[in-house]
Amino acid sequence: MRIDIISVVPESLDSFINTSILARAQKKGLVEIHVHNLRDYTKDKHRRVDDYPYGGAAGMVIQCQPIFDCIEALKAERDYDEIIFTAPDGEKFDQPMANELSLKENIIILCGHYKGIDYRIRENIITKEVSIGDYVLTGGELAAACMTDAIVRIIPGVIGDEQSALSDSFQDNLLEPPVYTRPAEYNGWRVPDILLSGHDAKIAEWELEQSLARTKRLRPDLLK
Ligand code: ADE
Repeated sequence: MRIDIISVVPESLDSFINTSILARAQKKGLVEIHVHNLRDYTKDKHRRVDDYPYGGAAGMVIQCQPIFDCIEALKAERDYDEIIFTAPDGEKFDQPMANELSLKENIIILCGHYKGIDYRIRENIITKEVSIGDYVLTGGELAAACMTDAIVRIIPGVIGDEQSALSDSFQDNLLEPPVYTRPAEYNGWRVPDILLSGHDAKIAEWELEQSLARTKRLRPDLLK
């Protein structure tokens, strides 16, 4: 899979994309992540990519030309399954959407910034608009980072234990059961006896009960 992220502040994504699990996934050849600086595509001699909005509203709007040229340059190299724009008014990002996107070959994520982008790009070029939640960020980079992380970690081979990605909270609309590690007692707090019993079937039963109880208590909406 290949993910191309377009941003006016590409450096803000560097450390995120080049550390830990995402770095390892790229080294293993399981995913390619490329970040493009939108300013490299402007024809403006001052490298500006934005202008005042028609109608006199406050804020700046990213112009069509650099976005169009950047996306055309990428499309000339390969076909894209989705051209995503990050925006607070987009479709809500969730685990099913991450699963679906992780099956794609090539996707573009265009990060919004300032007041937004010229609406003609959204109408004519963008195939999917995605929000990571009902709050407004200063730019789409954190949204692109969240999406990339959630998409890449479920690609087979990215997380050592594949079963672990598939049994995550939300994969089956259930929150995960509690997890514990050594020592069995710390500060007087004991790990539940069942987990020390070595009885696999009983442990699985207990974990399911815990998952159901936590989901009912914390996220009853998921059980509907
Ligand atoms: N850009 C600004 N806020 C955002 C949000 N909540 N989701 C996606 N992109 C955004």
